[in-house]
Amino acid sequence: MSETLSIDIDEKTFGGLRDRIAAYSGVYLDASRRRSLSRQLWRRILQKGLDSWPDYISLLDSAAGEGEMNALLEEVVNNETSFFRNPRHFRALAEIVLPEMDRARPPHEPLRLWSAGCSTGQEAYSIAITVAELFGLPLRRPVQILATDISRRALSQAQAGRYTAKQMQRVELPYRSLYFQTQGEESQVKPELRQLVHFQELNLVQTPFPPRFHNVDVIFCRNVTIYFQLETCRRLMANLYRSLNPGGHLFIGFSETLWQIFDAFERIQASGTFFYRKGPASRPLTSRPLQTRPQPHSVPGGSSVERPLLLGESAGTAPPEPAPARPGLPSAPPEHDPAREHYRRGMDKLRQGHYEQALQAFRTALREEPNLVEAYCGLAQAYANQGQNAAAMQACERALELDDLAEEAYLLRGLIHRQLGQTELAIADLERATYLNPGSPTGHFYLGDALLALPDREGALRAFRRTWRTLLGQPEHAIIDGVPVYLLRQACRKYMDSLTDGLSRA
Ligand SMILES: C[S@@+](CC[C@H](N)C(=O)[O-])C[C@H]1O[C@@H](n2cnc3c(N)ncnc32)[C@H](O)[C@@H]1O
Repeated sequence: MSETLSIDIDEKTFGGLRDRIAAYSGVYLDASRRRSLSRQLWRRILQKGLDSWPDYISLLDSAAGEGEMNALLEEVVNNETSFFRNPRHFRALAEIVLPEMDRARPPHEPLRLWSAGCSTGQEAYSIAITVAELFGLPLRRPVQILATDISRRALSQAQAGRYTAKQMQRVELPYRSLYFQTQGEESQVKPELRQLVHFQELNLVQTPFPPRFHNVDVIFCRNVTIYFQLETCRRLMANLYRSLNPGGHLFIGFSETLWQIFDAFERIQASGTFFYRKGPASRPLTSRPLQTRPQPHSVPGGSSVERPLLLGESAGTAPPEPAPARPGLPSAPPEHDPAREHYRRGMDKLRQGHYEQALQAFRTALREEPNLVEAYCGLAQAYANQGQNAAAMQACERALELDDLAEEAYLLRGLIHRQLGQTELAIADLERATYLNPGSPTGHFYLGDALLALPDREGALRAFRRTWRTLLGQPEHAIIDGVPVYLLRQACRKYMDSLTDGLSRA
């Protein structure tokens, strides 16, 4: 084996490849991926019978370059998916979006849905099951479901529609017998459901989209843009917007945001989740339009208040506006519930600063009850307090996957983004957290801190004023999310004074 193969690629080569991959697919690999990209490249080099990085780069430059780029992408792209991922999206589709379109459209006119970035097909088949549940099989009205991905490997699995028992875990039992044929460990989507979905290779960053993808009514483009850079994301959202019919709907992943990226959509909050609509709508739903933000200004003094550790549960004084309902979540824990007892023990350990013991307690709670959202939030806090941001982030994502209205998980993820210098993502999460729990002083405080870093002084001042209001009546030495009230007040006062001075001078 040649020497060049046994070492990681150097920074310059990594930068060049990263930019090529991003230009081709939108997927932008950050510096932490250098090692794994080296291994993935190595695999490609061996498969191609080459023996050096430069040979491989020449191959990418050759006529066969595009095919090779696609093959390389298969190695680096994240294909993670599951049936009914973020179940509330499918509930919104079944309860609101499809019935509304069905009423608004002549019965012979097809409704057109698109799973953009469908990976191995679970999202597209979940859409198909939702459609079949509503309109019967054969369908009582025409519906077309398009499903696209850049990955050929993922698409061929999607077309086959074969899934392992593990992949089938999130498919409810009645659906398994209605829509799948199971043989041993493997289940295959029945042909009558499979034929509702039309799979096609499509690179979402190469535009314009072919005419088949115009005049669409619903787009699911979830968890595709996570690794895209802002500008690529903005372009994609503008193109998806163009593809939608007026009144059409867009669903994006719970980790993704359109905030400060694309504001033409109206944000809808319904069925316990968020999604987006292209106006003009046929009929108004409960909606929260995107806020427009003031122009950024420079910040006097910067955002220098030390960020306290986040521990414990949110304070939750009386909210000024109702937060969305969280159907299906138990309101009060039962008396003798081992999972919750472990969870409470974990929280005690967390407050005492015994993070390893806290982690153990939360893991035990999750063994007892694998879907205990609070325990994932506990894990996230314990990891974050140990500086293990990646693990903390993963725990937040899991919590949000189980409950996309889990305010605490947004708060935590916002703080982690903030620590990683991802200010815009932090703001999007902290805004969600304060929307879901407007009575949380720490939510408003951290939002103010992140807005300062943007910098958006007016927005920050508003957030600190809200923090101040939510602290009214709280005893000085009470602890909220691990922070004494008097400290929050002091920090808030300092910020409000300096921002008011700065703004009145401006
Ligand atoms: C994490 S999976 C998400 C799958 C599914 N939408 C879900 O939420 O479960 C992301 C998918 O986006 C696809 N993808 C990434 N960049 C793409 C691009 N430029 N064009 C089309 N698909 C892309 C990947 O191949 C991958 O299958």
